[in-house]
Amino acid sequence: MLRSALNLATLLGLSTAFSISHRQDASYIYIPIEFLYGADSRVTTNITFGSSPSSHPITVVMDTGSANAWIWQSGALVHWGSPYLFDPGPCNLTVPNTTTYNPALSLTSHTQNISSEYVYAGNSKIVQGNLYSNDTLTFLSSPTASNTTSTSSIPNIQLALENSAILRLRDNGSCAPPPSYDKGIIGLSPYIPTNSTAIQGPSFRQNLFSASRIKAKTMVTWFNAPPSTLSTLSGGLLLGAIDTSKFSGPLVRVQNVVESGQVGYYIAKPNITFNGQELVPDQNTTCLLDSGTHADYLPFAPLSALPSRFFNSSGGQLVDENGVVGYNGTCDSIPRDLNLTYTFGGFTSGKTIKIDVPLRNYARGAMLNGGDDGVCLLNLEVGGCTFGAPFYSGAVVAVDDERGVLALARGGVSKDGSGADAASLKIFGTGETFDFV
Ligand SMILES: *[C@@H]1O[C@H](CO)[C@@H](O)[C@H](O)[C@H]1NC(C)=O
Ligand SMILES: *[C@@H]1O[C@H](CO)[C@@H](O)[C@H](O)[C@H]1NC(C)=O
Ligand SMILES: *[C@@H]1O[C@H](CO)[C@@H](O)[C@H](O)[C@H]1NC(C)=O
Ligand SMILES: *[C@@H]1O[C@H](CO)[C@@H](O)[C@H](O)[C@H]1NC(C)=O
Ligand SMILES: *[C@@H]1O[C@H](CO)[C@@H](O)[C@H](O)[C@H]1NC(C)=O
Ligand SMILES: *[C@@H]1O[C@H](CO)[C@@H](O)[C@H](O)[C@H]1NC(C)=O
Ligand SMILES: *[C@@H]1O[C@H](CO)[C@@H](O)[C@H](O)[C@H]1NC(C)=O
Ligand SMILES: *[C@@H]1O[C@H](CO)[C@@H](O)[C@H](O)[C@H]1NC(C)=O
Ligand SMILES: *[C@@H]1O[C@H](CO)[C@@H](O)[C@H](O)[C@H]1NC(C)=O
Ligand SMILES: *[C@@H]1O[C@H](CO)[C@@H](O)[C@H](O)[C@H]1NC(C)=O
Ligand SMILES: *[C@@H]1O[C@H](CO)[C@@H](O)[C@H](O)[C@H]1NC(C)=O
Ligand SMILES: *[C@@H]1O[C@H](CO)[C@@H](O)[C@H](O)[C@H]1NC(C)=O
Repeated sequence: MLRSALNLATLLGLSTAFSISHRQDASYIYIPIEFLYGADSRVTTNITFGSSPSSHPITVVMDTGSANAWIWQSGALVHWGSPYLFDPGPCNLTVPNTTTYNPALSLTSHTQNISSEYVYAGNSKIVQGNLYSNDTLTFLSSPTASNTTSTSSIPNIQLALENSAILRLRDNGSCAPPPSYDKGIIGLSPYIPTNSTAIQGPSFRQNLFSASRIKAKTMVTWFNAPPSTLSTLSGGLLLGAIDTSKFSGPLVRVQNVVESGQVGYYIAKPNITFNGQELVPDQNTTCLLDSGTHADYLPFAPLSALPSRFFNSSGGQLVDENGVVGYNGTCDSIPRDLNLTYTFGGFTSGKTIKIDVPLRNYARGAMLNGGDDGVCLLNLEVGGCTFGAPFYSGAVVAVDDERGVLALARGGVSKDGSGADAASLKIFGTGETFDFV
């Protein structure tokens, strides 16, 4: 993370590897992000919260599809084993101390008794707590990342502390194996001050804006070019700034088609090209841009002829594994330049933007039958429309919530592991935003 607020950096003795000349009224936040290699990975970042010497890094989801920010309080219990809504079920586990936070052990914590309850994935995950804490949030970038970024911290960030969860998951009576669960979620969807239970806070971005730590309500995400082996994809997220070296071609404004009551960024469905064949989706839906989802969901109505047209037009490369898309071969054998291409209509008529997502980026280690059926299962499904973490790996997504602007550009162009680059960084002062067509 890089911050340009020099007084803070001086106060905390933070080091940034380069200094940027900037105006008094401009400051920004840089957060390294990753798409880890794993079937259930989403866009994440590793943080520590607070100043306890015993704190461990926690991998939290950087989630454009939800609004609130939380991590586990020490001693938190996760319940599961019942198929019924709100029923904790017979099984539970204690969240290990390596992924929890104890405000009593942090000299810099300020707690407030505020209760929270957040629901995810159609009520199948519910988390609850009764404390908020303001403390120092530290983003850890990988040691192999470019030396233009370094580990640094933002003081006085408010997170909710959750102490219980209910996962709606059946159990066969053995309470084994323990389910996987999120270690924390930083909601990044637009702040809408409404009486909506979906948006209670803490609102990470809005709080940074209210405290003048960023001067624009912008957020820009990118991913770098993939590494040569199937592994973690690296990228970055900027609040209050843009790094123009992270995309090629123009940043094209697209229409935000969010409806009232919806949380997040919604766009119109694109045309989808694979193996030279362009398909026009037939599902009557808009598409959610959700970095907190592990897969992309293509808007081909499952019972229509389109899914089979999609598979047939792939020339035997893609196979239907009950709605999940598989590559007909090993994951390693997926050609590097084989893309799934999405063509979105621009906000300005006549403009379009093509986003290429390398098919290899969809291979995240998901397996069927132990993986020995010769098919590489992809984080890609047919039906519904969500652009999740795989889509983010090929796109630059720029939003300006002040102006309601949503824009896309071709990403995946910068060097693997590189962070924000001073030479191409534009930091926004009050009233400023990124350029788009
Ligand atoms: C957690 O599960 C154990 C059995 O494994 C049970 O004895 C205990 O009561 C449960 N605790 C809560 C709070 O549900
Ligand atoms: C975990 O933290 C709790 C509360 O801070 C403490 O009671 C417990 O001893 C800790 N357990 C381990 C294994 O450190
Ligand atoms: C917060 O809650 C704790 C535990 O319920 C209680 O002991 C404490 O007095 C509360 N603090 C305030 C300021 O209400
Ligand atoms: C973040 O944590 C995950 C899980 O422990 C780890 O695999 C990954 O390498 C970490 N990333 C960085 C940049 O340290
Ligand atoms: C740091 O960046 C500079 C400029 O890009 C480069 O010349 C130098 O080799 C880098 N150092 C390390 C240790 O990566
Ligand atoms: C329940 O499922 C787990 C994992 O699939 C298995 O290891 C276990 O033996 C099963 N237990 C029973 C009682 O069926
Ligand atoms: C939200 O609306 C409900 C019902 O309309 C009302 O009971 C509640 O007090 C409202 N909450 C806030 C914070 O305005
Ligand atoms: C904690 O953070 C919130 C949100 O940024 C802020 O409104 C509040 O004043 C902070 N509390 C303290 C004690 O600084
Ligand atoms: C598409 O969905 C919208 C909203 O759900 C609905 O109003 C509209 O009638 C639907 N159009 C078609 C052609 O089904
Ligand atoms: C998978 O590829 C093989 C050749 O490698 C081909 O014979 C087979 O028909 C393909 N499967 C499908 C479902 O297209
Ligand atoms: C796949 O997309 C990349 C990035 O846009 C592009 O450079 C490459 O040419 C595309 N591959 C093919 C076969 O078009
Ligand atoms: C999708 O393709 C159809 C048919 O060629 C075309 O009319 C439409 O404009 C295309 N949409 C986009 C977003 O390119």
